[in-house]
Amino acid sequence: MVRSKNTKTAIDVKLAREILERNDRGGYSVPTDGLYPFQWSWDSAITALGWMTIDEHRAWQEAETMFSGQWDNGMVPHILFHKDAETYFPGPDVWGSDKQIPSSAISQPPVWATAIRIMYEQASDRALANEKLLGLLPKLMAYHQWWYRERDPDNTGLVCSYHPWESGMDNSPAWDKPLAVVPEVDWAYQRRDLGHVDAEQRPHKPEYDRYLYLVDFYKRHRFESQYIFDHCPYKVIDIGIVSILQRAGNDLVELCRIADEEQGVTDLTEALQRTRNAIDDLWSDERQCFLNYDLISDEAIDEVTTATVLPLFGNLANAGQAVSMVELMDGWLHATKVGLSSTHPSSPRYESQRYWRGPVWLHINWMISLGAESYGYPELARRLRNSTRDCVTASGFWEYFDADSGDGCGGDNFTWTAAVALYWLVD
Ligand code: DGY
Repeated sequence: MVRSKNTKTAIDVKLAREILERNDRGGYSVPTDGLYPFQWSWDSAITALGWMTIDEHRAWQEAETMFSGQWDNGMVPHILFHKDAETYFPGPDVWGSDKQIPSSAISQPPVWATAIRIMYEQASDRALANEKLLGLLPKLMAYHQWWYRERDPDNTGLVCSYHPWESGMDNSPAWDKPLAVVPEVDWAYQRRDLGHVDAEQRPHKPEYDRYLYLVDFYKRHRFESQYIFDHCPYKVIDIGIVSILQRAGNDLVELCRIADEEQGVTDLTEALQRTRNAIDDLWSDERQCFLNYDLISDEAIDEVTTATVLPLFGNLANAGQAVSMVELMDGWLHATKVGLSSTHPSSPRYESQRYWRGPVWLHINWMISLGAESYGYPELARRLRNSTRDCVTASGFWEYFDADSGDGCGGDNFTWTAAVALYWLVD
């Protein structure tokens, strides 16, 4: 395990707290200064768990600020551009949405209901938790209904995604083929990410050209749901989003029960059952895990990534599938210095330090570890947690970690890394 840069084995709690405080912009947190100067949805949900260990009021505020930018149709955008910033591209003008709080026009893995259930259950201020839950519950319901209505209008049980950024795993090799058929933009632009982070750790230009084509496509078609569903050149079933939505849906059922919202329980139960009925279509006997699916070419995407074992987190695997995925991860964890690498190292597209093509992310390990534990595999859960802790104690609070060396990559002083450390890694 990584011990090369220093010999500390305990999490630096003081520094983790300072990072949350430093990245607080008054009611919301930026993932890191400069590189990501706005509020990102799934970062923010994970960050709220970190805030719970410091200041419960502030944790609830993180959620409320995010949901203040919810669209009328229920979507929670993946970015809220609360204030202008010159250090990030593409900004609100490129997205062109006309909402009161400028935002992007796609969402991100819907981890919010899971975070809110944890916050509710762990809160010491019960009165505050009850008040906040009642305010947030209808918004969470509208968000989940948006996913089912807009992203699965045919009720197949499997919601779809329109952008690699929506997966949160932007540059995953799983998206290479579906993204390759998207046209490139023909206008010039200046990337800002490369001013903050080494180009070896970020996506290449041809991918950015296509990311931007999609952003432009939504704007040109005025964010019209049906048109985008019918014509978007990129449309995938992202097993990460499906699994996180399922976990969050089950958590939302529990929140509805707490609040005596019987109709919510009924609606969600039907949708959750549809997903359970459909999930086996994504299982691969050859890979011993689930796979993402390209809806444009109509084929499974043959790439083993951390998303493809997330059905453990979503409680979507049967017992046999769970055993297979646990065995797969056993070898996977042995194959890199720190794990779990975001892409399986046997893939020819694996790159240990490039964004989502190999590095380790803390919050994903937390999710897989929770899933492994709930399926009765505490040993795997423990190994994942130890390996995750090793990344932080050896290298610090980076955005992600090189799977072959354990070195920190991407942005430093990263909010969700500090938050996961505070919430999950401190003994
Ligand atoms: C980026 O700009 O790299 C973000 O991940 C998009 O959400």
